[in-house]
Parts: sequence; structure tokens; C-alpha cells
Amino acid sequence: SKTHSLLILPGDGIGPEIMAQARRIIDWLADNRGLEFDISEDLVGGCAYDAHGVPLADETLAKAREVDAVLLGAVGGPKWTGVDYDRRPEAGLLKIRKELELFANLRPAMCFEPLVDASSLKPELVSGLDIMIVRELVGGIYFGEPRGIETLPSGERRGVNTQVYTTSEIHRIAHVAFDLAGKRRGKVTSAEKCNVMESGLLWREEVEVVSKDYPNVELEHMLADNCGMQLVRAPKQFDVIVTDNLFGDLLSDVAAMLTGSLGMLPSASLGVKGGGAMYEPVHGSAPDIAGQGIANPIATILSLAMALRYTFELGEEADLVENAVNAVLEGGMRTADIMQPGKAKVSTSVMGDAILREMEKLNG
Ligand code: NAD
Ligand code: IPM
Ligand code: MN
Repeated sequence: SKTHSLLILPGDGIGPEIMAQARRIIDWLADNRGLEFDISEDLVGGCAYDAHGVPLADETLAKAREVDAVLLGAVGGPKWTGVDYDRRPEAGLLKIRKELELFANLRPAMCFEPLVDASSLKPELVSGLDIMIVRELVGGIYFGEPRGIETLPSGERRGVNTQVYTTSEIHRIAHVAFDLAGKRRGKVTSAEKCNVMESGLLWREEVEVVSKDYPNVELEHMLADNCGMQLVRAPKQFDVIVTDNLFGDLLSDVAAMLTGSLGMLPSASLGVKGGGAMYEPVHGSAPDIAGQGIANPIATILSLAMALRYTFELGEEADLVENAVNAVLEGGMRTADIMQPGKAKVSTSVMGDAILREMEKLNG
């Protein structure tokens, strides 16, 4: 059988805790489904900075290029607040995205039925929710030049970042969104701020151009601030949302709460066909709960399921993992981040145990 190569980068904070549970699932799949994984593990983020003085060593990047997929936990934390931006933990993550040209970040926000009353919105607003946020990941204000902090002759300091997009960058992400919408409910909402930003106007015009190739997909333009409001007013109006790097970051955290917890949201970062891919939870390193063994591993486990589906073409195994997560939630088990009074709160590893148990059962 084919060997599936995977680079695991647990990272900082809760990263290693949640990744340990994903790792158990990979091992289970290898033992029980006749799959062969070639797994390597390495440092990224603050732990890499502590070890090597950089948040992503060249050797780690080289490995990331070689493997079929990267599975990343989370990076960052208060320990590295004073470090320069180009050596901050977050810079390691941004470098992998940029170097592997993972321009399409797919962030699905789905509400598992047992969690409808865990959302901060009313159950009827989120029941059956299934949104796909398509976030541009290697352009925009995250990477635009000029950038920096300078001291003016007056002694005042000035911080600069630049929002910039080109036609081709907008076209390729728009194609991803329209292709996905064509396989879903046939609607794309494009979010920008063309009312104040030229880059937003270009975004709107070029998304409009791409839409002509997709006569069966409806395109709607929405100003990004309104989009944030609409997401919490009536989230089920959306199918696919396509937006830039920064707005996509904000809107996906907003969408997370629709699903019950940020600890539930997976993501896939994809690039050009045949190139690499990275899978990671949407949440961060959660320094406030790191080391306590109470983090929710589901976002990472669902990210693994996305890797199984999109990179390894193991749809059955992906279903198995997702169905096991659903079964555990049906059974009433919760980690502490999921706000449902009266439900027993379990640790990260007990949640991992339960998901593995359901996989055993579903596997027959
Ligand atoms: P965060 O996502 O780490 O945490 C926000 C809140 O959600 C916290 O209260 C945290 O406890 C909770 N939370 C997040 N994930 C959880 C989980 N799996 N289970 C239970 N609770 C969970 O965001 P933050 O606190 O703003 O950022 C902390 C650090 O993480 C920063 O350094 C930031 O740059 C970094 N970060 C990294 C990534 C990434 O690696 N992809 C993503 C976001 C933030
Ligand atoms: C995310 C994170 C990252 C981002 C940070 C850690 C660089 O917030 O993946 O959502 O802003 O893209
Ligand atoms: Mn984010």
C-alpha cells in the first residue's frame, strides 16, 4: 500500500497536548485500517526559537516541503512577547504558509447537532449550520511591504503595514471558492471593504470577473463589517465566504463561536495542485489553559480528518474520525471550553480515549 508522509509540528502551549491525541488516532488508523504512515516530528514556533534562535529551522522547512502534509498544533505565547517580529513564534507559521504557497485556507464552521445549545447564539440560528470560509493566506496586509516601526524626526514612532493584492492572487482564491460552492449550495459571498480601500475594490471587481466562469454559482458582495454582523445575526444565509487574509482571520474566529467553541474548528491550508498542504486548528496555543490537560483536542483531530480527506484521499477514514467525534458529543462528553451546563467536563486525554473507543465501535 501507499505510504502517507506526515510532518507533525506540535508547537507551543496546548499544541503538544492536543497533538498527542491526534497522534493516537493516526497510530490507530495504521494498526486497524492497514494504512502506512511515515511520520516525522519537529519544532515550530516558540519552542523552535528556544532551541535554534529561529521559529522555523531551514531543515524543518525542507521537511515540510518533502512530505505529503503537515499537521500543526499551535504556536506562540507570552514567553516570546519581546522577540522581534521576524523571530516571533507566529513568524514560523507564516513562513511555512508563504514558502509552501498555501494560499487557500479552508475553515469550515459546522455545528454538530449535540452542540446547538453550546453556541452563544440561539439554537435555531445555528442548528444545521455549515459554512465554509475561504481565507486568502499568503497575501494582503500580513505580507505587504512596506512594513515596520520607525521613529520620526519629531521623536514620534510610526507603525506601518500595507494591504496589497494583485489580480492573480485574487483570481486563484476566487476559483477555490467558486469550485467549492459548486459542490455545496452554490453561493459565494465575497467580503471586503471596497467602500474605503482600493485593494478591496480590486478584490470585488476581480471576484466578479472569475464569477463569469461559474454561471451556476450565485455571487454576493458584502462589506466585511456587515459580514461580521450577519454572521452573528443569521449565519445560515452563508454557504461559502471568500475573503482576504486579515478579514478571514477575524471572521473565522467569529464563526467559531457559532459552532459552540473555538476548540472545535479545523482548517486546511492548500496551495497549487501537487504541492504541499498543512492542516491546523483555527485556535491558538491557549496560554491561559496550557499545561492543565483540559484543552479540547477536537479541532486538531478534525484537522487530521481534513488531511485524510483532502491530501491522502482516505474519505472513509475521514468519515470514521468525524463520525466518532459526533458520537462522543452525542454521548454527552465535553471539554471545559464547551459551554453546556450540566454536562460532565473531561480532560484532553479522556476525550481522546472516547473518540478512539467510538472509532473501534464504528469500525465494527
Ligand atoms: P487562542 O486561540 O490561543 O485562545 C483564545 C481562547 O480560546 C482562550 O481562552 C483559550 O483558552 C481558548 N481556547 C483556544 N483553543 C482551545 C482549545 N483547543 N480548547 C479549549 N480552549 C481553547 O488565542 P489567543 O489567546 O489570542 O492567542 C494565544 C497565542 O496563540 C498567541 O501567541 C497567538 O499569536 C497564538 N495563535 C496561534 C495560532 C496558530 O498557531 N495557528 C492561532 C491563533 C493564535
Ligand atoms: C490563525 C492565527 C495566525 C494568523 C497567527 C498565529 C499568525 O491567528 O491561524 O488564525 O493570524 O493567521
Ligand atoms: Mn486567527
